[in-house]
Amino acid sequence: MPDRYAVIGNPIAHSKSPIIHEAFARNTGQSLEYIKVLAPLDAFVDTVQSMIAEGFKGANVTVPFKLEAFQLANQLTERAHDAGAVNTLIFNEAGITGDNTDGAGIVRDIQENLHIPITGKRVLLIGAGGAAEGVLHPILACSPSLLVITNRTLDKALTMVKKVEDQGEYRFVSVNAYAFHDLQGQQFDIVVNATSTGLTDTLLPLPLGIFAKGALAYDMMYGRDTPFLRFAREQGAKVADGLGMLIEQAAEAFYIWRGVRPKTSIVMQSIRNL
Ligand code: ATR
Repeated sequence: MPDRYAVIGNPIAHSKSPIIHEAFARNTGQSLEYIKVLAPLDAFVDTVQSMIAEGFKGANVTVPFKLEAFQLANQLTERAHDAGAVNTLIFNEAGITGDNTDGAGIVRDIQENLHIPITGKRVLLIGAGGAAEGVLHPILACSPSLLVITNRTLDKALTMVKKVEDQGEYRFVSVNAYAFHDLQGQQFDIVVNATSTGLTDTLLPLPLGIFAKGALAYDMMYGRDTPFLRFAREQGAKVADGLGMLIEQAAEAFYIWRGVRPKTSIVMQSIRNL
């Protein structure tokens, strides 16, 4: 029987993860099965425990269970610890290990697929929820010259900045928080939307002129042209949605589980055409 993996979420019907992992398995000659698991909102832990009992080797975790997965894991990788959330679980003799591949996914998509180095760039991160927390450290680790966090609730952005300062790990990056309207007059090379506003088609109140010449606007949401991406395009920025990040975070999870790194370019094209 092939090794079994799953993505656990609620809702889960829309998930593209099984198609992605099946394509990776085909392309790398690995034999595995990957299914969607709908966990009841109040039974994430029970769901994981029964999957372990059934012999599953690992799982991806999506909305709304990334924090519960973080709490459940009996060991965490450094990047899961930094993110404060877990999107990849490994089940083995050591118990449940929690990792987070989201940050690696966005960094790889921007640098390798879109060919835009983050090093030395001015980066604006919009949002201060779980999605923003998940990518903050991996982006900082690429040594941008400046990282500004902006958020509707400014306090949350200030808390994220303070945490980074207290850790003292990225002393060479200038890290600041500003309210949306205080971004007036500033310019960025890479602007990442990590808010959930794409879901509700809400336009963020960003000032005009924040995109430097040739800037990239990246929306972590995928599969729809969000108001943020439309705004950025009108301002002359290059735009990308989060499909590449989705595929790259999956590739990183596949690598952790199987020890083989799948080629993502072929999958990228076929998923986009679905
Ligand atoms: P996720 O796990 O997707 O990050 P979250 O932790 O609920 O979800 O965070 C949602 C993010 O989207 C937050 O940064 C939130 O801003 P607040 O911290 O002010 O709530 C942002 N967001 C959601 N709706 C928004 C809106 N209409 N305008 C601006 N920001 C919004």
